[in-house]
Amino acid sequence: MRVVSGIQPTGNLHLGNYLGAIRNWVRMQDEMEEGGQCLFFLADLHAISMPHEPAELRKGTLEMAAALVACGIDPAKSVVFNQAQVPQHAELQWLLGGTARMGWLNRMTQWKDKAGKNREGQSVALFTYPVLQAADVLLYQATHVPVGEDQKQHLELARDIAQKFNNDFASEEAPVFTLPDPIVPPQAARIMSLRDGAKKMSKSDPSDMSRINLADDADEVMKKVKKAKTDPEPLPSEEKGLEDRPEALNLVTIYAALTDGSVETVLKDFGGEGFGKFKPALGEVLVETLRPISERFTGLLEDREALDAILARGAAQAREIAVPTLEKTYEALGLVRG
Ligand code: TYM
Repeated sequence: MRVVSGIQPTGNLHLGNYLGAIRNWVRMQDEMEEGGQCLFFLADLHAISMPHEPAELRKGTLEMAAALVACGIDPAKSVVFNQAQVPQHAELQWLLGGTARMGWLNRMTQWKDKAGKNREGQSVALFTYPVLQAADVLLYQATHVPVGEDQKQHLELARDIAQKFNNDFASEEAPVFTLPDPIVPPQAARIMSLRDGAKKMSKSDPSDMSRINLADDADEVMKKVKKAKTDPEPLPSEEKGLEDRPEALNLVTIYAALTDGSVETVLKDFGGEGFGKFKPALGEVLVETLRPISERFTGLLEDREALDAILARGAAQAREIAVPTLEKTYEALGLVRG
């Protein structure tokens, strides 16, 4: 079993990233069987597909490395690195570019959402983004990729690319790439914005009130929860009562995920209660979960040398795993390497 996943180091790590992905990474790391391995990386190469500030990206990469470790990713157990220190990602992306089809990329909802009506004005990197993402996981022969719901389509594309490449350039007995399985958490696969229950919680939302950042202090968390959009009705006692109430459903989902319960169990406790009672309870659970993370995060950020060392060591380990697959890919394509 080889687990691989990544996160863009742009902006703050927020509750959606944590409940939708990182918490699963930590669980998979801690439950890893003998001989298995986890690789977690900062997708800094992906981050240049959108307009960006170089100084911010540099700072964001170190902060995100610290945030992952603060959340429980242990560099002694998992390989932690950033893409830019492992050039094999960009190399494999180019090699897969001969296999990926324009039509497949055109269908990606993230591309459609981010490009909007202005496709001609977007960077080439935004369009080919999912090919790099495929390279990220195929490079390591990943078997499992823990992600939130929004990344599932990109993983399906990675499978399609792997399958076509194996069909076109390898034999059935000796495929070049393993087909990766996306692992999406049943609870909290899609945490929504606190301001709009139809939008996912996101680093790129201009309103900071729309998300809980993992580095927010207790006062900020309580304020954001208090101001979170809701409706005037009390909570129902059954899940179907939340059908047309996306904001209420989101808050209940967050509570359920944080307490390892389900929407049903939360409604058993809070059914009939108004938000005046539920919100402070949710705020408290959030503060309790985030406190140890943000304390560790602040401590780690103060030791720049230690962070650099974690990333350098992780990159060396990653390169070692990546090279054989990359060589096999060159070979299968008939590229002469001497
Ligand atoms: P990114 O950086 O947007 O998000 C990192 C992880 O957090 C999950 N996530 C969420 N889950 C639930 N609710 C939300 N509101 C929410 N927002 C984000 C994402 O699904 C993701 O798992 N393209 C990827 C990074 C990437 C990657 C990869 C992932 C690059 N290469 C290879 C897996 C494998 C991205 O931008 O995720």
